[in-house]
Amino acid sequence: MEDLGSVVWPPEPIRTERLVLRAPEGRDRAVFVELLACPQVHAYLGGPRSRDELERETPEVPERWPGSFVVDLDGVMIGQVLLRRATGHSRPAAEGRIDLGYLFLPRAWGSGYAGEACAAALDWLAGAFPGEPVVLTTQSANTASMRLAARLGFTEVERFEAWGAEQWLGMRAPATP
Ligand SMILES: CC(C)(COP(=O)(O)OP(=O)(O)OC[C@H]1O[C@@H](n2cnc3c(N)ncnc32)[C@H](O)[C@@H]1OP(=O)(O)O)[C@@H](O)C(=O)NCCC(=O)NCCS
Repeated sequence: MEDLGSVVWPPEPIRTERLVLRAPEGRDRAVFVELLACPQVHAYLGGPRSRDELERETPEVPERWPGSFVVDLDGVMIGQVLLRRATGHSRPAAEGRIDLGYLFLPRAWGSGYAGEACAAALDWLAGAFPGEPVVLTTQSANTASMRLAARLGFTEVERFEAWGAEQWLGMRAPATP
């Protein structure tokens, strides 16, 4: 995976009904550590990282790269939306395409925040990379993620085995002008 490369970054913060999508800042560091160390968040992502290691290795301003949005609710980070170029993807249908990922703190699940944030990020992407489809890979057992992918308009390309589990590869066609 690579970042989005040649795009004006960061964009102006994106405001939705309840959220702001913005570039990471130093004040988000503790939440990044919490997010990456959380077993629930990483139940379908190969397991969490050790909190000690994260405390040692996380930079002062984490995850500051083109395509990495912090999702902010009332001034506090609740999750991250990741838009990356899927270089080196094992599936030809996804190779080189823009890939959507999302990680939210468990206390922010079940309120539609991930859907609201991802829809806004995809709208921004459609302006920055017009005409490009977006892919998404998630474990098919990750039912919350599968529901979110469907709500965002991703449809199944294929299922495949990797990392010891069945993976679902979805694609979202670009909006027609
Ligand atoms: C995947 C993940 C982001 C989904 O979070 P989520 O909160 O379930 O997703 P949404 O934002 O779409 O919210 C939908 C839920 O909010 C509820 N909801 C409440 N108020 C809502 C509102 N105003 N608008 C929309 N949905 C609302 C919906 O009914 C739905 O609940 P349900 O799942 O019980 O039916 C979250 O589980 C997560 O961070 N998991 C760990 C990371 C991960 O596995 N990522 C996938 C790999 S890319």
